[in-house]
Amino acid sequence: MAIPMCLVITLVFCSLMVANAGNFYQDVDITWGDGRGKILGNGNLISLSLDKASGSGFQSNNEYLYGKIDMQIKLVPNNSAGTVTSFYLKSQGSAWDEIDFEFLGNLSGDPYIVHTNVFTQGKGDREQQFYLWFDPTADFHTYSILWNPANIVLYVDNRPIREFKNLESFGVPYPKKQSMRMYSSIWDADNWATRGGLVKTDWSQAPFTASFRNFNANACLWSNGASSCTNSTSNPWFSHQLDSNSQGVLKWVQKNYMVYNYCTDTKRFPQGLPLECTVANKKSN
Ligand SMILES: *[C@@H]1O[C@H](CO)[C@@H](O)[C@H](O)[C@H]1NC(C)=O
Ligand SMILES: *[C@@H]1O[C@H](CO)[C@@H](O)[C@H](O)[C@H]1NC(C)=O
Ligand SMILES: *[C@@H]1O[C@H](CO)[C@@H](O)[C@H](O)[C@H]1NC(C)=O
Repeated sequence: MAIPMCLVITLVFCSLMVANAGNFYQDVDITWGDGRGKILGNGNLISLSLDKASGSGFQSNNEYLYGKIDMQIKLVPNNSAGTVTSFYLKSQGSAWDEIDFEFLGNLSGDPYIVHTNVFTQGKGDREQQFYLWFDPTADFHTYSILWNPANIVLYVDNRPIREFKNLESFGVPYPKKQSMRMYSSIWDADNWATRGGLVKTDWSQAPFTASFRNFNANACLWSNGASSCTNSTSNPWFSHQLDSNSQGVLKWVQKNYMVYNYCTDTKRFPQGLPLECTVANKKSN
C-alpha cells in the first residue's frame, strides 16, 4: 500500500515542477503587437518587432513562485536608439512585485545599457544600469533571474551583475508571496532610453527586431494558490546564494561595467538612501 502511494506523490510532485528548455508554442503566449511578435521554427525562436505603430510582447503561460528563469536574447542590431527590449518577472495587482532586465538601445556602435530594477509591493526606484562586456546584437546571450527566499540575483552569461538580498529582518519588503509571470517585449521609449532621451528613434530604420530562444524555467510552479516547492530539496535554486567566487565576479562587473547605481545617488534621495542600500552590507553571507 505504501509504495504505490509514494509513487503517486512523486508523480504529482514532478508534474508540478518545471525544468524545461521549452517550446515557445507550449510555454508562452504572444499577447500584443498584432503580428509583430512571431514564434518561428518549430517553436524554438521568437522574434519581436517594433515599428512606429506598435511594439510587441509575450508572456509565460505559467506563474512561478521562486526559481531560476533564463532567456537567450539577441538584441536589435545597428541603430536601436530609443528602443527598449525587456525580459522580466512580474506579479499582478497594485502592490505588485517585479524583477526587470531592460535593454536600452543606442546608435550603431554605441553601447547598449542593461537597465535593472526590483519592485516590491508596487515600489521600485531601485535602478542599476550596466554596460556589457560584449556586443549583445552580434549573437545570443543568456540573461537569468534567480529568485528564492534568500535573494534575487541577475546574471548575464552566468555572471552575477546584481544581487538583491532578502532584508526583511531590517524592514525592507521582499517578494515572497505573489507569483510572477515571465514577460518579454519591445517598445519605443525614446523619451528616456538613449542618453536620457536626447537620441530619438529613427523610424526610417524600422522595423526593429529582437530575437529570443532557450527560455528555461527551472522554477516552482504556482497553481491553486500554492507553490510546488517549499525547500531546497524541491528546487536546486531554492537556497542558492553567491559564494565568495561569485561575489568576486559581481564586484568585477560592478567595478568595470556599472553605469548607474541608485544606492549611491545621494542627490536623488536627499532624505537618505533607501534602507536596503545602507543595511545591505551589515548582513553577512
Ligand atoms: C547593420 O549594418 C550593417 C552595416 O551597415 C549592414 O551590413 C547590416 O545589414 C545591418 N543589419 C541589419 C540587421 O540591418
Ligand atoms: C549610448 O552611447 C552613449 C555614447 O557612448 C553613452 O553615453 C550612453 O550611455 C549609451 N547608452 C545609452 C542607452 O544611452
Ligand atoms: C521538502 O519538500 C519536499 C517536497 O515538497 C517534502 O517532501 C519534504 O518533506 C521537505 N523537507 C523539509 C525538510 O521540509
